[in-house]
Amino acid sequence: MKGACKMTIPAVIAHGGAGPGPDRQENLEVAVRKAAEILSAGGSALDAAVQACVILEDDPVFNAGTGSVMRTDGSVLTDASIQTGDGKVGFVIAMEDTPNPILVAADLLDEEINGLTSQGARIWADEKGHVKRKVQGVSPKGQIGDSQTEIFGDTVGVIARDKEGAIVVATSTGGCSHRPPGRVGDVPLPGSGFWAQEGLAVAATGIGEAITRALLSYKVYEKTKSMKFSLEDSMKWGLESLIAPEHSVGMIALGPKGPGFGISNTDMPWSTWEDGTSI
Ligand code: GLY
Repeated sequence: MKGACKMTIPAVIAHGGAGPGPDRQENLEVAVRKAAEILSAGGSALDAAVQACVILEDDPVFNAGTGSVMRTDGSVLTDASIQTGDGKVGFVIAMEDTPNPILVAADLLDEEINGLTSQGARIWADEKGHVKRKVQGVSPKGQIGDSQTEIFGDTVGVIARDKEGAIVVATSTGGCSHRPPGRVGDVPLPGSGFWAQEGLAVAATGIGEAITRALLSYKVYEKTKSMKFSLEDSMKWGLESLIAPEHSVGMIALGPKGPGFGISNTDMPWSTWEDGTSI
């Protein structure tokens, strides 16, 4: 019918990282509530995902932004990525003095370049007026010189869907513990730590090397799009078939309808909301 427009029910899902750490469920829900507030007021998935991600980056219980884990040399370097279901992407890698790398990644969405790394990323962020502030970071217990301690690569991630049906995935991390300063994890690599396309998005968290080798987010997306698997079954397949059980890994995903779904082979706080429900 001419003029008819089909509205989508807004929804959001977020996670606070796969792996050991403090109880962070309530902290995570603060971010989900913020996204829900934006979406139920008619705001965009982009705004909801970015603002929720900033809340998680600003909360020191999460390994992202302010709470980022130190690298083996004591440096603190942050990564972030963002992708929209209609084909835009932005990512930043190993940024110094950047407590909110997601804001820099989001600023790249409408640029000709997709990604920036290290010093060049910071120079570009300075030109755009992004906050530059030393991030103290968190030292994992016994990190320096102690290879016996537990490795974790938790991250934060948010996927939002708005009433127009737009979907956006945003992820951010300080990286994996016990890793050198030049190391690149899954978070800024399209298809590895995140993928969003045509109403479906996936975000991963955990040991970045395992996630990257599996191209986990894209593989789960592809499996679901094949129509032979439900979103939940694709995520279970991804975790069980593509990831060795000794690697702590989790995922969240959100499709064109319904709430999101989270799965992990370790602790992973996650929370989802769909308009009309409570968090
Ligand atoms: N998943 C975060 C990292 O490995 O860097």
